[in-house]
Amino acid sequence: MVTIDLSDKTALVTGGAGGIGKACAETLSRAGAAVAVADIDIGGAQKTAASLANGKAFGCDMGNPASIRELCSSLSSWFGTPDILVHCAGLISYRKGLQAVDLEQWDTVLDVNLRGAFLLCRELLEPMKKKGWGKIVHFSSLAARVGGIEAGVHYATSKAGLIGLVRTMAKEAAPHGINVNAVAPGIIATKPVLAQIEDHKSDYEQSIPMRRVGLPQDVADTVLFLCSPLSDYITGITVDINGGMYMG
Ligand SMILES: NC(=O)c1ccc[n+]([C@@H]2O[C@H](COP(=O)([O-])OP(=O)(O)OC[C@H]3O[C@@H](n4cnc5c(N)ncnc54)[C@H](O)[C@@H]3O)[C@@H](O)[C@H]2O)c1
Repeated sequence: MVTIDLSDKTALVTGGAGGIGKACAETLSRAGAAVAVADIDIGGAQKTAASLANGKAFGCDMGNPASIRELCSSLSSWFGTPDILVHCAGLISYRKGLQAVDLEQWDTVLDVNLRGAFLLCRELLEPMKKKGWGKIVHFSSLAARVGGIEAGVHYATSKAGLIGLVRTMAKEAAPHGINVNAVAPGIIATKPVLAQIEDHKSDYEQSIPMRRVGLPQDVADTVLFLCSPLSDYITGITVDINGGMYMG
């Protein structure tokens, strides 16, 4: 029997109040990890953390550099440097056409989704290197692969930028025993997505080769694999999780 045992590991899951982040926190916790749940929605993070065997909630705004620094220093007083980082926090934004995205919206989405990921990793990578073992998973998107279907240009650009961040970080981190990968979910049934596709969900269900939208658990299971020793020789890649909508 193959088991994934993370009982001696600590994990930071950002965006842990939301649909996919919550599933990731629960899944890593079931594998035995102590899980810090960070989110701008502190109430939601507390709810998720309370449902875990060994979880703790932290407030953090990924768009705010000071808040990211503060999160990392609060973490060190709870469990030190995380072994695992699942950076799931992100702003999904639906817009049609370049004219529909103003400068403020562009900056907000890029700051949260892309700059936040860079700043968080800049804080954590050096202490993680010292541990000589680590797993980092970022959240890209199908929108980065095929262009935004309904999501705006700012969102698709931020998620495409993450793929470059992942590949570059992967090369730096690999000699230190740290794997850096990303997942690129397709259409996953979470609150913001279900609200957007409410009146045309069945169109997706008919066009997706697997004939269903994804579930948060579909993504969390892949994240667990990328956080486990089963993926030790995989780094710098982006795993597509989309029921066959895009196959690389
Ligand atoms: N659901 C999908 O179909 C889908 C597809 C591709 C990619 N993704 C990505 O997966 C991740 C999770 O998405 P989801 O569908 O679970 O959405 P969600 O809205 O349920 O979860 C996102 C979480 O990020 C948090 N967040 C937002 N802004 C933040 C900020 N400034 N600082 C800290 N936390 C912040 C939210 O509070 C929320 O809890 C996102 O990065 C999203 O872009 C989702």
